[in-house]
Amino acid sequence: MKLNIAVLAGDGIGPEVIDQAIKVSNAIAEKYNHEINWTPALTGAAAIDAVGEPYPDETHAICEAADAVLFGAIGHPRFDNDPSAKVRPEQGLLKMRKKLGLFANVRPTFTFPSLIDKSPLKRERIEGTDLIILRELTSGVYFGERGRKDNGNTAFDTMTYTRDEITRLAVKGFELAMTRGKKLCCVDKANVLESSRLWRETVQAMEKDYPEVTVSYEFVDAVAMRLVQWPSEYDVIITENLFGDILTDEASVISGSMGLMPSASVGTKNKLYEPIHGSYPQAAGKDIANPLATVLSAAMLFEDFGLTTEAQTIRDVVNKSLEEGYVTEDLADGGESFKTSEVGNWLVKNI
Ligand code: IPM
Ligand code: MN
Repeated sequence: MKLNIAVLAGDGIGPEVIDQAIKVSNAIAEKYNHEINWTPALTGAAAIDAVGEPYPDETHAICEAADAVLFGAIGHPRFDNDPSAKVRPEQGLLKMRKKLGLFANVRPTFTFPSLIDKSPLKRERIEGTDLIILRELTSGVYFGERGRKDNGNTAFDTMTYTRDEITRLAVKGFELAMTRGKKLCCVDKANVLESSRLWRETVQAMEKDYPEVTVSYEFVDAVAMRLVQWPSEYDVIITENLFGDILTDEASVISGSMGLMPSASVGTKNKLYEPIHGSYPQAAGKDIANPLATVLSAAMLFEDFGLTTEAQTIRDVVNKSLEEGYVTEDLADGGESFKTSEVGNWLVKNI
């Protein structure tokens, strides 16, 4: 297969972890006779510095033309404590999601047998956890009407959803559930929010089309609690943008390190793969960041193009590195650890 992939390394540790995912993907391409063309493009603070805009038109054109996008991370501390900044790296991410039509964000949470005792949660609570949070990504309060009034003393953000936006996300949720444990949980706040009531109503009306799927409806506050109590009870969760943002960070610690969890964003036009961690500026340039979340994101990419063996080869070699303790310092418990690039080289050698 021939794949054209846009590479948006972004900020902080983005470029370092992306390098490892590229090395691993190239090794896979060589082993299974594929051809991958990588086209780098600017995004985030790096793009603001270069051209004054976090998601330049040129970057969008490269992403649109590509079969898929591999994304590192964006964000820079100099913007975080400056509410007056007019242009922010995160705006680039939101613009990109919207312009590429990436309405469904797939964030899996699973455990690695060799790491199960690294989780802050007890083994018996997390064993067998294999859930996917499907987060709506291009609507809701992130994209609703917002502003200031009352001479700047009142601020508002609004959460709006249309039935169509909920339906297309829910279709993906039902379809995903059909390929897995056939359980779907719709997470909302329908006891308070009108938009949540529309979510519930819409999903309820779809149940008859998927008779094999067991559907449940839970409030987001209760799910925040149950996710750390009994995460293994969930299969596929569908939820709106902001709830999904919060729950996926929460779920990411179940596995023991945020540096492990991959994600995919899919929708109408394109597909994007990225680690769920951020730009981790404190570690930038030090060659210490864990590259596995990005490497596993590349595995999700291969899987989505039907290259199941290739994806499994990546997951197997990642598992092997964890079992053999060939890990970055976040997973080393103060013991022997390896550099980002060393882990990447080890993976390549063992493919
Ligand atoms: C994420 C991030 C983004 C989000 C930020 C950086 C805008 O937290 O991808 O989860 O809130 O969606
Ligand atoms: Mn987030």
